[in-house]
Amino acid sequence: MLVDTFGRRHTSLRVSLTDRCNLRCTYCMPAEGMSWLPKPELLTDDELARVLGVAVAEGITDIRFTGGEPLLRRGLVDIVRRVSTTHPEVMLSLTTNGVGLARMAQALHAAGLHRVNISLDTLRRDRFAELTRRARLDEVLAGMAAAQRAGLTPVKVNAVLMRGINDDEAEDLLEFCLAKGYQLRFIEQMPLDAQHGWRRENMVDGREILDRLARRWTLTPVPRRGSAPAETFHVDGGPATVGVIASVTKPFCGTCDRLRLTADGYLRNCLFAREESDLREPLRAGGSDADLATVLRDCVAAKRAGHGINDPGFVQPHRSMSVIGG
Ligand code: GTP
Ligand code: 5AD
Ligand code: SF4
Repeated sequence: MLVDTFGRRHTSLRVSLTDRCNLRCTYCMPAEGMSWLPKPELLTDDELARVLGVAVAEGITDIRFTGGEPLLRRGLVDIVRRVSTTHPEVMLSLTTNGVGLARMAQALHAAGLHRVNISLDTLRRDRFAELTRRARLDEVLAGMAAAQRAGLTPVKVNAVLMRGINDDEAEDLLEFCLAKGYQLRFIEQMPLDAQHGWRRENMVDGREILDRLARRWTLTPVPRRGSAPAETFHVDGGPATVGVIASVTKPFCGTCDRLRLTADGYLRNCLFAREESDLREPLRAGGSDADLATVLRDCVAAKRAGHGINDPGFVQPHRSMSVIGG
């Protein structure tokens, strides 16, 4: 069991499969993209399978694939199949921008993926093209529908609201998700962008969003499940729900159960960690499973109490969200 010095048990591993993305969301990366990791630096499918096996033996019960955009990883379906066959007890999920999901949803479900979370910040075609710098809204919407049809459910939708950009769409996004049967969560924007452009005053906080929604719908709190980052509410008596992930104004670090693996094989104990633990080196230098397990345990042992975003001396992590894994 991976327990840190604050007694937090770590059962969830978020695995970035690539740092590349086919969108260019303005709040995430610059128009020209990033300097992508060279392929030889990425963990291979075999290396990944090995690390995941060790992580499961150490007590990981939930694995979420992220990126960059994880659907861009060649062999994603094979990776999912491999993990689900070797570890059928593990909950497997994926966080994606939805582009290309329409083509892959069925195969992913057949390979053993349980569910998907899809990002959607706007329903307006022109605004989507501006915000993501790519005109692909219809592909995302088709991806959501396909995920639901394939049984990758519940389909959760993540929306980041930004002041003066898309904060007028809270109600439209909820109406859309209610009509489709998707679980919408609004996410507070965190200082994790490559351009270091985050400003607290531009962040639309959870309180403000809930106040707005409460003018139109009756929201009743659903008791929070353990370490879940979202505060969830029944809408008009349920069963439909809406959630708020208030990472900045109401940090949930006290119940954190997460570890992260970057696409190039480094382990992080927090999105905002200052250090990473190298797993690729022991993997490629003939290290044993016990050596890998030691890296995991040491990384968990070094975890700090929280992200520190609200502390006076806060410094944004060196790597941005798309490189770390969302
Ligand atoms: P569910 O199990 O479906 O609830 O997954 P999730 O909400 O943990 O996963 P998802 O990938 O959809 O993440 C949604 C958002 O939660 C991310 O965009 C982040 O804003 C936030 N988040 C995820 N992990 C962390 C974390 O470790 N720390 C903080 N502060 N925020 C996180
Ligand atoms: N703060 C909060 N959420 C972010 N995401 C990307 N960048 C940020 C940020 N700086 C979201 C995406 C996606 C999820 C993986 O993370 O919109 O839904
Ligand atoms: Fe955990 Fe770090 Fe996320 Fe806080 S920011 S919830 S400590 S991973």
